[in-house]
Amino acid sequence: MKFTSSILLLTFVCLSQPSAHAAGVDIQAAIQKVMQYPSGVNVKAGSYIVELDGTPGNTNIQAITNSVASSFTSNFAPSAPKFTIGKHFTELFNGFTLHANKDFDPIQIASIPGVKRVWPNRIRKLQYQASPTNITYPYLHHATGVDAVVQNLGFTGKGVKIGVIDSGVDFNHPELGNCWKTFGCMWQFGADLVGDDFNPNDPVPVVKPGPHPMDCMGHGTHVAGIIAGQGPQVIGVAQDATMGMYRVFGCPKNGTEPTTSDEFIIAGVEAAYKEGADIISLSLGGGGWPEDPTSVACSNMVKKGIIVVVANGNDGDAGLFTAGSPGLGHGVISVGSVDNWNITGNAIDVVSGAGTKKLLASTPANGDFPFVFENNVPLVTVVDSANSKLGCATISQDLKGKVALIQRGNCTFNEKAANAQAAGAAGVIVYNNAPGMMSPSVTDPSVTIPVVIITQEDGAYAVSALASGNVTVKAPKSNVATVPATTGGEMSDFSSYGPSPELDIAPIVSAPGGNIYSTYPLKLGGYISMSGTSMATPYISGTAALFKQAHPKYSVDQLRQALSTTAKPRSDKTTGKNIHPYWSGSGLVNIFDAINSRVEFSPSALALNNTMSGPLSSVFGSMMGYFPRWSVRRVSIKNTDPHKAARISFSNSVADSLTPWAADGTFNPKPRVWPADTTAQTGWSTMPQAYAPELHSNNLVGPGQTRNIAVVITAPYGLKDSERWFYGGFLNFTMSWGDKSNGASSFVIPYAGFNGNYRQLDVLADPSEGFPLLADASGNVTTAPVTEKTPQVFNFRLELPSRLVSITLQDSKKKTMGYLPGGYLEYVSRNLQTPETFMYSAVANGTVFKDTLMTQRVKVPAGQYQINLNALRPLGNPKNPKDYQAWISPAISFA
Ligand SMILES: *[C@@H]1O[C@H](CO)[C@@H](O)[C@H](O)[C@H]1NC(C)=O
Ligand SMILES: *[C@@H]1O[C@H](CO)[C@@H](O)[C@H](O)[C@H]1NC(C)=O
Ligand SMILES: *[C@@H]1O[C@H](CO)[C@@H](O)[C@H](O)[C@H]1NC(C)=O
Ligand SMILES: *[C@@H]1O[C@H](CO)[C@@H](O)[C@H](O)[C@H]1NC(C)=O
Ligand SMILES: *[C@@H]1O[C@H](CO)[C@@H](O)[C@H](O)[C@H]1NC(C)=O
Ligand SMILES: *[C@@H]1O[C@H](CO)[C@@H](O)[C@H](O)[C@H]1NC(C)=O
Ligand SMILES: *[C@@H]1O[C@H](CO)[C@@H](O)[C@H](O)[C@H]1NC(C)=O
Ligand SMILES: *[C@@H]1O[C@H](CO)[C@@H](O)[C@H](O)[C@H]1NC(C)=O
Ligand SMILES: *[C@@H]1O[C@H](CO)[C@@H](O)[C@H](O)[C@H]1NC(C)=O
Repeated sequence: MKFTSSILLLTFVCLSQPSAHAAGVDIQAAIQKVMQYPSGVNVKAGSYIVELDGTPGNTNIQAITNSVASSFTSNFAPSAPKFTIGKHFTELFNGFTLHANKDFDPIQIASIPGVKRVWPNRIRKLQYQASPTNITYPYLHHATGVDAVVQNLGFTGKGVKIGVIDSGVDFNHPELGNCWKTFGCMWQFGADLVGDDFNPNDPVPVVKPGPHPMDCMGHGTHVAGIIAGQGPQVIGVAQDATMGMYRVFGCPKNGTEPTTSDEFIIAGVEAAYKEGADIISLSLGGGGWPEDPTSVACSNMVKKGIIVVVANGNDGDAGLFTAGSPGLGHGVISVGSVDNWNITGNAIDVVSGAGTKKLLASTPANGDFPFVFENNVPLVTVVDSANSKLGCATISQDLKGKVALIQRGNCTFNEKAANAQAAGAAGVIVYNNAPGMMSPSVTDPSVTIPVVIITQEDGAYAVSALASGNVTVKAPKSNVATVPATTGGEMSDFSSYGPSPELDIAPIVSAPGGNIYSTYPLKLGGYISMSGTSMATPYISGTAALFKQAHPKYSVDQLRQALSTTAKPRSDKTTGKNIHPYWSGSGLVNIFDAINSRVEFSPSALALNNTMSGPLSSVFGSMMGYFPRWSVRRVSIKNTDPHKAARISFSNSVADSLTPWAADGTFNPKPRVWPADTTAQTGWSTMPQAYAPELHSNNLVGPGQTRNIAVVITAPYGLKDSERWFYGGFLNFTMSWGDKSNGASSFVIPYAGFNGNYRQLDVLADPSEGFPLLADASGNVTTAPVTEKTPQVFNFRLELPSRLVSITLQDSKKKTMGYLPGGYLEYVSRNLQTPETFMYSAVANGTVFKDTLMTQRVKVPAGQYQINLNALRPLGNPKNPKDYQAWISPAISFA
């Protein structure tokens, strides 16, 4: 009854004037509970995730939703807003979802006692991209220790249940069991939660789950093969694991990729939990915070003892602070991607006077037209009417029955292909104009000849062969070439960077994810290679299953620390320097070392936050003659060998420092790297240092014993403070037990922090970058007064995530008039580089709102005003005005 009465009150309030809010309900408090994302973030309109106080399962959600529903329908129909209650979450997230029409006011729900927060329902995508080649060579597991575990220890994931939340699986695939839930089948649990026609962006999404989570788009089938492909082509990491699949994506429609919403991600996670999954694998997500609902559900899953593995994201191109939710959930294992060592893919034989050479070709740009030539076909270099080899203008040569060799650049693949086809060509080989491979894209439906790309180097070979005589090409169906990837074992460029907004290290660990060959739905060809942290994530889920079989009693934390401390840091191929933990976590997984480890470290990563400033105390100060920033952390080292003492040898493996800012203060998506960038320092400088002084006098830890030692870490000295560097490295503990039995002997604990006071960093773009910017609707800067018909758009750019951003209008006496429409945002991600995520906007159109939820409108009287932007700095307290970075616009006039 209690809830019903609150609802009655609130409904009344809502249907009458806002001033009636007084009667005992703290509207301001309710408003603060409604979370809003910036305009660039894709959310489902009218759809909410209601988070309740207390722990999942201890609240009678049915009672709350029943009373919400009945009070609206019985008392206020038909004028009351229409809504439906969606899912109840009772295991991992305390709350429910609600879908309403546009008149629905979320304050109504936020005001109910027991409601913690009301969140928008975010739309999410998968974390993958097409790979340039179909890799037909089974990717090798020796670099990750998987081969050694399977061959020497015999663990294959048997008895371990892995639940995947994805686009479904083609379980009819011969390498994926060709069975569903039958006796002895690898697939024993899971369900379709959405159906083929589900699209969260539809006004009323169609949710018609089928009887099985059959995959129509391919991603989930690819992920499944990485975990448990049965061979012969795809050898999964944990071939004997018991698999579950929860399908939360519909089918691609009209060429657009399916997406899902937070609601179904949480539903999938809860379903996998209820069916007893030991490990949950999520190759999805996107920019976010640990407070986001999906992150909270995953954090709660970890608390219940379930291993949660999540993609760190594919926004590496956008640089630091791109790690996403739910990967940022507490205790979640977020995964970065390493490029595969070998690329094996479709080959083209080039036959010339010099002999035959196999060139690796990309997957055809237009999938329906495979580049297959069973017999030799002449190859010709095109010369177009612009007298170039680019094929961007009309080609007058007769290319009938020939393959055209065209240089990449200046126009689209569509145009090149169409010009070659018009000249009669039977196929097109484009050669790259930059190092590396790529996926060309031909979308013009009138192009019906195959188009592939080869490397710049191979292109030069073909061009020079043509210069000295006739050349033919041949590409039989199963022609493959294996070439070493120039980036093998390195971090994939697309792999997102940490840290979290609170400076926690992300990802935790990395796995092969760039150019991975795996299973694909039979209808779509059966096999393909894809790239993404989407592919690295199931790899780690598989290794977690091997670990779980080896150590069934270990906690999630023990597993997480073992995977992390035995991983192998990555290095930069050019400089040989260690890659920063914010990109690679601890580095490439080595599951053999993790399983055999005889040491447990706690904590397994050191997020240093703000390093204190020197000088050091006399104990440590004598070690150095300079005054760096420093911090002291304690690390416990447990020797789990019951019989032998271990000797600890300690060293510091420094990593490159990173900054997203150029020397002039402007933003640089690709982080600058020091010491490669020597302009970063002021003369004399040091790398970060780490000392473990207590190990000098005693470096032993007895059998079954734990040592708890202090580690002093000093930030690099001499780096320019103005350039705002993030430094890091690895504490390197080499343990010896005086025996030769197998097991890792070197362990790393990544450490990272900010060289200065992180709390004082600006979150807004440097003014020299042209932001914030007030412009008219077409982007022109104007002095015309703001009216309803001539609004101005207020654009701003966040270079760091911000917990809270508000944009208000103040009059000439600095009195606040209210919030601009779109001017109150919480848990805001950093702006990235894509057009949709480049900046955030609010509108100045003559209306402001008294409340952060934009319900109480105020018409602004004519006059001069200023826009006041306040963005909370890192780790700031929302209640402390001093913790905000403020920006006040020049005066603008409102007519
Ligand atoms: C790359 O391929 C070669 C030849 O097939 C093979 O010998 C080598 O082991 C592969 N490297 C890795 C790291 O898989
Ligand atoms: C499919 O996409 C095309 C082009 O993007 C668009 O014109 C068309 O309306 C779409 N059809 C449907 C059914 O959405
Ligand atoms: C191709 O583009 C480059 C760079 O924009 C330009 O210098 C060159 O003239 C162009 N070539 C042709 C043939 O259009
Ligand atoms: C090269 O090909 C052309 C026509 O395709 C032919 O006339 C010519 O004889 C060939 N040259 C040689 C050296 O085979
Ligand atoms: C690569 O795989 C895709 C998906 O199976 C398929 O459509 C394509 O034909 C393959 N490419 C070749 C050259 O086999
Ligand atoms: C980081 O440092 C600030 C003070 O500078 C402190 O308030 C905050 O709690 C610290 N955060 C962590 C995670 O240690
Ligand atoms: C850790 O130390 C061992 C022994 O000196 C060394 O072999 C290893 O390369 C070091 N690890 C890193 C990441 O530097
Ligand atoms: C914006 O500026 C461009 C070029 O300066 C001009 O062509 C356009 O008409 C302007 N738009 C408006 C709405 O004034
Ligand atoms: C101003 O913009 C807000 C948000 O888009 C809208 O709700 C409001 O109706 C607009 N006001 C005017 C006067 O156009």
